[in-house]
Amino acid sequence: MFKHFSRSLSLVAIITVVCGAQSLRQAADDAGLLVGTAVRPHLFSESAYTQTLAHQYNMVEPEDAMKWPALRPNNSTYDFRQGDEVVRFAQAHRMKIRGHCLVWDHDNPDWLTKDHFTARQLSRILHEHITRVMTHYHGEVFAWDVINEATDENGKVRDSIWYNQPGIGLSEKGTAYIEQVFRWAHTADPHALLFYNEAEGEGLNRKSDAIYSMMKSFKRHGVPIDGVGLQMHVPAIDADIDSIAAEVFANIARLTALGLQVHITELDVPLTVEPDGAVRPSDLARQAEMYRRIVRACLNNAGCTAIQTWGFTDKYSWIGSHSHHTRGAALPFDQTYQPKAAYRALLEELSAGRSPRSDH
Ligand code: G3I
Repeated sequence: MFKHFSRSLSLVAIITVVCGAQSLRQAADDAGLLVGTAVRPHLFSESAYTQTLAHQYNMVEPEDAMKWPALRPNNSTYDFRQGDEVVRFAQAHRMKIRGHCLVWDHDNPDWLTKDHFTARQLSRILHEHITRVMTHYHGEVFAWDVINEATDENGKVRDSIWYNQPGIGLSEKGTAYIEQVFRWAHTADPHALLFYNEAEGEGLNRKSDAIYSMMKSFKRHGVPIDGVGLQMHVPAIDADIDSIAAEVFANIARLTALGLQVHITELDVPLTVEPDGAVRPSDLARQAEMYRRIVRACLNNAGCTAIQTWGFTDKYSWIGSHSHHTRGAALPFDQTYQPKAAYRALLEELSAGRSPRSDH
């Protein structure tokens, strides 16, 4: 009888953690923080996907639905259907929407990259795109990744169609074209928060130093920018988690000291996956620790206001298809939407809120 009673109690405990009063969303709401995930609107027909999403998150970001290939079938047409689906879902579930991304060198439609536009034409096309898209989502998208991954690993402005191939007329003038797109974005929607989003500049290195200098200069020159998005695609295996966490904390601290917000925008922690799909339990534990320490580094900086993962279930993640399925299992929920150790680490950290913890 006692055995039955204790078994029922532990069952109740499990149910409470998984789908009861406590959720990432509730913990984040209590901490005054946004917890989000990238989403794919064609999956909204899957009930486990939408139920987990609405229960666990207070923010969404379209993974691909607001990129150029989705929005711009050709030079004269806009197709907002996929993006609008994300907006409708978010509004129905009282979630904030981050927009991603207005300017990127990568994943642009053929008509844009292969038609040999002049710098003057590209400038007009980009200005019009930013204005039209931000006007369409005015009052719905609260924050935009205005420009994505504009810096290379040495901290130099990356060669790109928008910078110098042929660029929008500010070729070889360093960050001037980046300033220009922020000014266009601010005019298009003065109420939206505007972010510079970047990969591999989360810790302390040449790239993050360059981004910090650019931000300092933008603040000095009155460029309308509100924050930096740190993508945070961080493998856990063979990583020195202590030093990564300390560097991420320090980087967030110096950026927020400039009066900028930081959003963690694309957190995922890929693991080695065996051909049969198996991952090592010890790797899952290290992954959880990485999630815990990254979230803590954010919570320990008041200006870090959002934590977002790049998807939430291992069933759907960019990592598998981009690594011939040798890596994956990067997200807080497994392929059957069961919470992993990474989920529990996230929940514990968010529940502790911003109360200071000694290690970063
Ligand atoms: O839209 C076509 C679709 O028409 C076609 O049927 C399908 C067949 O494969 O491909 C679709 O395009 C794919 C698109 O995602 C939408 O699903 C592209 O091939 C694919 O390359 C694209 O990958 C995305 C990638 O960015 C490039 O845009 C990933 O889903 C997305 O996770 C990834 O996200 C980026 C962030 O935007 C920036 N930071 C890095 C991050 C990971 O690479």
